[in-house]
Amino acid sequence: MELPWDPAALEAAARERLPAIAYAYFAAGAGMESSVAANPRAWGRWWLRPRVLVDAGAVSTATTVLGTPIALPVMLAPCAFHRLAHADAEAATARAAAAAGTVMMVSTHSSLPLEQVVPHATAGAWFQLYVDPDPGVTLGRLRRAEECGCGALVITVDAPVWGVRYRGLGDSAAFAEAAGSTAVSSGAATFLGLDWAGVERIAAATRLPVVLKGILHPDDAGRAAASGVAGLVVSNHGGRQLDGSIPPALALPEVVAAVAGRLEVYVDGGVRSGADVLRALALGARAVLVGRPYLWALTLGGEAGVLALLRRLGAETANAMTLAGQTDPARVDPGIVVAADPRLS
Ligand SMILES: Cc1cc2nc3c(=O)[nH]c(=O)nc-3n(C[C@H](O)[C@H](O)[C@H](O)COP(=O)(O)O)c2cc1C
Repeated sequence: MELPWDPAALEAAARERLPAIAYAYFAAGAGMESSVAANPRAWGRWWLRPRVLVDAGAVSTATTVLGTPIALPVMLAPCAFHRLAHADAEAATARAAAAAGTVMMVSTHSSLPLEQVVPHATAGAWFQLYVDPDPGVTLGRLRRAEECGCGALVITVDAPVWGVRYRGLGDSAAFAEAAGSTAVSSGAATFLGLDWAGVERIAAATRLPVVLKGILHPDDAGRAAASGVAGLVVSNHGGRQLDGSIPPALALPEVVAAVAGRLEVYVDGGVRSGADVLRALALGARAVLVGRPYLWALTLGGEAGVLALLRRLGAETANAMTLAGQTDPARVDPGIVVAADPRLS
């Protein structure tokens, strides 16, 4: 299926199809939404400086994440309530991820139970865990993820409380109906007392590798590496938590330096093109995640829509790698990316 190539046009097309409340929930950011606006633009701060005369026949977008092979260095970020976008909900998203050959991260707030999503995600499903104030509930989520065959546990660490949002959740009864019955249980604004010791306890309670999602500070990245975590996602939650938090495109280099190869680093927030994917790889990310673009694609075409989006990102990434003289996502030359001259921006 054909999707609008321009990110703004893709969003506009989905907006026309969606109930206003669903569109607002997907699009919303925290506060004045300054981080939402800055995230995609920040990738443009980095210019690509291609290498030439490299054998283009050898280019492949295939790589691995925590040992799992993926066909392109793009995974699907955990996003809540896919039923707001399409009746087939997370099952459609999972089938598309499988067809494209990549990992889907399944949200704690999935519209469908994990057991009805993971079997479709045959290229890999990672469970995104929101820790519950009740340790028994958290452990229950963990066990279900293990039993379903999830390949990793992604603990979201940037949500001790929900960010202030002025769009999207206004009428909670209408929202719950649109999102599915499991929706509102999550809306609690309780402060979660999750700390490093808590992360270590969770890691000790599971055989799954642990990924921390929502790291922006290099000191936290260093701490994560020291505590035996397998990976982290440099993320400001798509601008939905702390308004004004640094765009991940700008936070990434210092995080990569702090972990010094001790764990895998992924990044999300405003990744919209194959050129953005290549920028992230050159800055040291192992792979990227996309969020809103696939929600728009799911809205427009269900499984076929998400697959079309992933195929396009894969083709764009292959094209950008070829033109920049890079053959392997795991070995992109850091020298092909340079900071834009601030005097020019
Ligand atoms: C509608 C929506 C729901 C989200 N739900 C979750 C969630 O349940 N858990 C989570 O860790 N992150 C969640 N996120 C954040 C995404 O995983 C991801 O960090 C972000 O969307 C990436 O930015 P992008 O949308 O610009 O690609 C959500 C984002 C959106 C837009």
